[in-house]
Amino acid sequence: MKAKKRVGILTGGGDCPGLNAAIRATAKTAFKIGYEVIGIRDGWEGLIEDRSEILDSSNTAGIIDRGGTILGASRTSPFRIDNGPQRVFDVFKKLGLEALVVLGGEGTLAVTSQLFKMGLPVVGIAKTIDNDVRETNFTIGFQTAVQIATDALDRLRSTAASHHRVMLLEVMGRYTGWIATFAGIASGAEAILIPEIPLNKERIEKLCQMLKKRNKRGKNFSIIVVAEGTQLEWKAILKPSLHIARNEGPDRLGGIGRVIGELIAGKTGLDTRVSSLDYIQRGGTPVAYDRNLATAFGVKAVELVKEKKYGEMVALKGNRITSTLLEKVEGGIKVVNPSAYKIAEIFFS
Ligand code: F6P
Repeated sequence: MKAKKRVGILTGGGDCPGLNAAIRATAKTAFKIGYEVIGIRDGWEGLIEDRSEILDSSNTAGIIDRGGTILGASRTSPFRIDNGPQRVFDVFKKLGLEALVVLGGEGTLAVTSQLFKMGLPVVGIAKTIDNDVRETNFTIGFQTAVQIATDALDRLRSTAASHHRVMLLEVMGRYTGWIATFAGIASGAEAILIPEIPLNKERIEKLCQMLKKRNKRGKNFSIIVVAEGTQLEWKAILKPSLHIARNEGPDRLGGIGRVIGELIAGKTGLDTRVSSLDYIQRGGTPVAYDRNLATAFGVKAVELVKEKKYGEMVALKGNRITSTLLEKVEGGIKVVNPSAYKIAEIFFS
């Protein structure tokens, strides 16, 4: 009997809600057209170290609503490991794979693109709560993070109102302020601070004036959303010392909310508090939008594998599921579009 064709699947980079829905969709669609599916453990690390398992109808069932990734994830790049790319090719061959579906953010997808150029048959799926992957309107996980941040902001608003406070919420967004902008608009934030618009002393001054004016008008509480990657033009925010070098990911961010909170309190005299959502916004149940997007992306990825359209990434353009060259997502990120930020700005007062 002829051996079944095999497709591998891995999840690289930080996890996000909706990964399991995408794994499920990819696997079940592949089973339907006669493929065997191999789940690679812990991203590229698992491929290099030959850690995998067979996915079947039982271990891919009942996971559409589960957060995280049943496969595990890592930020390992084969290009930062001795002989890494060669080891990827060796294990790929040893597993008898025909193609590999890679779920990743901009970092993982850039690595995927480079490996494709070296001859690895790959298809990419964009996932990250940060929504900063080019060539697709949305990435898997983003809408869930926005919902979690919006829920948190709603809660902060009620306690801010009771105590007449300025409340800052720091959300994730390493290079871009997508979560901050969308959650800020959804919760009616008085200000949204994002990495795309670095803060100079003038902007901080304007922000403080606005907060004081609000207070004078009798609006005695305010909500501000800050993306973790927001920069002060005159002061570098120290990186926390907790960085664990296991997988040599990017430096950890966090703390800008507190720095800005202190500036506001000092300049306005208003009672100010700061909260940070940290990893809470990356865990747990995906919202329906992410489950649907992940399902459509998984189905499309298998279509690309079947047609041998390697070197492509599944994408959402308008409301169409399509694909684009992986190469196009290399070397850049998708910043918040000015028209979305302009909508938010209308309500800053
Ligand atoms: O997944 C992207 C992201 O959420 C960034 O916004 C954040 O800076 C980073 O992950 C933190 O990831 P970790 O600490 O898991 O490496």
